Amino acid sequence: MSHRFDEPESNQPPRGLPSSEDGNPTSDEAAVTGARRPPTAAEQREAACLRAASNFTVTGLPAVPPIVPAAVWECESTEHADALLSHAAPGYVYQRDGHPNADWLAEHIRLLHGAENAAVTSSGMAALSAWLLAHAKTGDRLFVSSQLYGRSLLLLDQEARRWGLEPIIVDVTDPAARQAAWARRPALAVVETIANPCLRVADVPRLAEEAHAVGARLLVDNTFATPLVCQPLGWGADEVLESLSKLMNGHGDLMLGALAGRGDHWDRIEQTISTWGLASGPWEAWLAQRGLGTLGLRVARACRTASELAIASTRHPAIARVDFPGLAQHPDHELACRLFSTDDQGNTLFGHVVTVHLKGGRAAADRLIAESSHFPFCPSLGELRTTLSHPQSTSHRGLTEPARESLGIGGGTVRISVGIEPTAWVLDGWLAGLDRLPTN
Ligand SMILES: Cc1ncc(COP(=O)(O)O)c(C=O)c1O
Repeated sequence: MSHRFDEPESNQPPRGLPSSEDGNPTSDEAAVTGARRPPTAAEQREAACLRAASNFTVTGLPAVPPIVPAAVWECESTEHADALLSHAAPGYVYQRDGHPNADWLAEHIRLLHGAENAAVTSSGMAALSAWLLAHAKTGDRLFVSSQLYGRSLLLLDQEARRWGLEPIIVDVTDPAARQAAWARRPALAVVETIANPCLRVADVPRLAEEAHAVGARLLVDNTFATPLVCQPLGWGADEVLESLSKLMNGHGDLMLGALAGRGDHWDRIEQTISTWGLASGPWEAWLAQRGLGTLGLRVARACRTASELAIASTRHPAIARVDFPGLAQHPDHELACRLFSTDDQGNTLFGHVVTVHLKGGRAAADRLIAESSHFPFCPSLGELRTTLSHPQSTSHRGLTEPARESLGIGGGTVRISVGIEPTAWVLDGWLAGLDRLPTN
């Protein structure tokens, strides 16, 4: 027989006045009448259990950081609460304002970037929002690279206009376009170290010099590089952004972002993260910090395989062009050699992403993706596994065809985010897929 939850049972008490089974008033009922009575032994026990559950100590130093999920912390006194909230005393009050896992993760990122400060946010987009909200004021002009990640462009172009900001979309590889944009005296500038999908490299030292000459602040989104490949703060950027959802965490199981930078204005950034609700959670922060522990190993393997894959791809007859900053023919190869770090063998790390343009166009891309048994089609990057993406149908689908063409994206453009599988296995699977494609 089906049971309807909205049918009242005949022996139910009237709504809003719960009674215990033996007919005596419950504590809820007492609260309703305001009558005072001593708590029963069972009620004492219930309260004692709750108190005991939050009365813990940890003896010794755990070998890994604990997860501290507390939404709120106990204050010792009103003075202590006041001191905590005004940052006069160290400690925490409310998770959105700060928590240990975010601080431990931020410290890790601060060290990786050689920054004075770092802060963690709920996603890479939250980090960009926090930066913009902390620094921009109505009427400001924004210098925005035309090659930014699609959502970043949406935020800094369409959304920013709604707030009275004036974006200037710039091809940052064109000196004349840059000069014209700087002449309009933007207050803020945003570029990516390695831009998706043709992997153009930003000349960070030059951009920083140009930005500072007109009094602008430069933010560099370093997501495709990670601090192990490039440290934009060392090249003059004011702040750097990482989407930790990608290679930094590297396991494809969380969303987080981070900002790192100089000391000035940092309290504005931290206040913005809390006030606009852009803060991270402890579970994700803990996971990301665990992921960072293997960043060096993952970056080394993925970058090496990416270099091998790029070189092998240049020799394959199904491919019209390969974009990878490690190739001598890439327009930014020399810049990458200058700005990017080396591994322990002295080889430059050129990143873990390679983009190819297939001679067979969209049909060839569709076939490569459909028949790929090695590599899933996942429109993201920085996973443990090698993944494929198709910019025309995913990251850049919102652009017009001419706009995509101007960025070098066609139907046959496929982006490979190289993972940490053995190099030979990745190459074998990749070349086997290409062998099935048309060569003209
Ligand atoms: C270069 C770049 N920056 C920022 C973001 C946004 O990061 P998140 O997805 O963590 O918000 C992405 C996401 O794909 C990205 O590719």
